[in-house]
Amino acid sequence: MSRILITGGAGFVGCNLADYFLKKGHDVTVFDNLFRKNVEKNIGWLKQKHKKGLTTVKGDIRDFERLLVNVKDVDTMFHCAAQTAVTTSVKNPVEDFEINALGTFNVLEAARQSNTDPIVIFCSTNKVYGNNVNKIPLVEKKTRYEFADPKYKDGIPEDFPTDADEHTPYGCSKYTGDLYMRDFHDIFGLRTVVLRLSCVYGPLQHGTSDQGWLSHFIISGIFGKPVVIYGDGRQVRDILYITDLARLFELIVKNIKKISGKVYNVGGGSSNTISLLELIQFLKGRLGLELKYSFSKWRPADQRAYYSNITKVKKDLGWSPSVSKEEGIVKTHEWIMNNRHMIV
Ligand SMILES: NC(=O)c1ccc[n+]([C@@H]2O[C@H](COP(=O)([O-])OP(=O)(O)OC[C@H]3O[C@@H](n4cnc5c(N)ncnc54)[C@H](O)[C@@H]3O)[C@@H](O)[C@H]2O)c1
Repeated sequence: MSRILITGGAGFVGCNLADYFLKKGHDVTVFDNLFRKNVEKNIGWLKQKHKKGLTTVKGDIRDFERLLVNVKDVDTMFHCAAQTAVTTSVKNPVEDFEINALGTFNVLEAARQSNTDPIVIFCSTNKVYGNNVNKIPLVEKKTRYEFADPKYKDGIPEDFPTDADEHTPYGCSKYTGDLYMRDFHDIFGLRTVVLRLSCVYGPLQHGTSDQGWLSHFIISGIFGKPVVIYGDGRQVRDILYITDLARLFELIVKNIKKISGKVYNVGGGSSNTISLLELIQFLKGRLGLELKYSFSKWRPADQRAYYSNITKVKKDLGWSPSVSKEEGIVKTHEWIMNNRHMIV
C-alpha cells in the first residue's frame, strides 16, 4: 500500500484521484489551500465516502516548510495544485507565477529533501505548446476546425515545439514546472513523470467560463444560465473522462522504473474530439438540454484546434481511454443533475 500526497487534492482532478486510490486501500493526504471556489464541497464529499485512510491538510504549496512536513512519510505525490486558468493568469501574473512556478519548485524540492524518494506525477498542460499550435494550417468545417497537415492527423505529439510563440502567463508558469520536473529527474534522480493534459472532465468539476468549459456548459444549461463562446465555437479539443486519467496514474506508479523522467501528452485523443458547437448540439439532441449562448472575441493564445497525440503513452503503458466522449458527457450530465447541491 502506498502513502500518497495529493496537492490540489480538493480540486477536480485531485479529488477524483483521492477517491480512486482510497477505494483501492491506499492512504491519501489531500493538501489544498481551498483557493478554488466551491472545492471545500469536494472535501466534504470525500470525507463522507471514506472514513478510513484519508487525511486532509489545509496548506499552500507556496509555503515550503508546510509542504516539507507533509511530504516526510509519503512514497508517492500527485501534484495537481495550480492556478488553472489562462484568463486569471493574465489578470494576476504574479499570483499565477507564485503558485504554478514557485509552488511546483517547492513540491520538487520538498520531494528531493524527503528521505522516502517519492514518485512525483505532475499535471502539466497542452498550453505549454502555446500559440505555436495555431500556426498549423487548418481546414474550416461547418462545426469545427481540423488540422490540414496530415502530419497532425493523430494530434499534437510531445516533440511539438514549445518555444516559438506566445504562451500566456499560465502557459509560462506551467511550462516552468514542466521543465523543473524533468530537470529534477535528470540532475537529482527524482522519479518524476509529466502529463501534458488537454481537457479532462467529469464529476466534481466546478467548471466556469475561465476553466473547465465542458462542465461549465452543462452546469449553465442545467441552471438556465447563458454562456459566452469566445471565438466562433468551432475550436476543437480532445476530452478525457476523469476515471481514465485516474487509471493512468495507477499505471504510471506501477511502471515507474520504466518511464521515470518521461513526458506524455494525455487526453481523449483523436477519437474523442469535440468542438464547442458540437457539444451544444449533442446536449440538445441527446439530453434535451438547450443552451443559451452568445459570441465574443477570441481570448489570448486560444488554440483553434488542439488534440493530443496519445501514441507514446499507449505504447509505453498500453493505456488508452475507455470511456467514449458520448458516454462521458452523459455520465457528467447525470452526475451534475444528481448533485446540484455540490455546484451552487
Ligand atoms: N482539468 C483540466 O482539463 C486540466 C487541463 C490541463 C491541465 N490541468 C492541470 O491539472 C491540475 C488539476 O486541475 P483541476 O482541473 O483539478 O483544477 P482545480 O482548480 O479543480 O484544482 C486545483 C486545486 O488546486 C488548489 N490550489 C490552488 N492553489 C493552491 C496552492 N497555492 N496551494 C495548495 N492548493 C492550491 C485549488 O484550491 C484546487 O482545489 C492543474 O495543475 C491544472 O493546471 C487540468
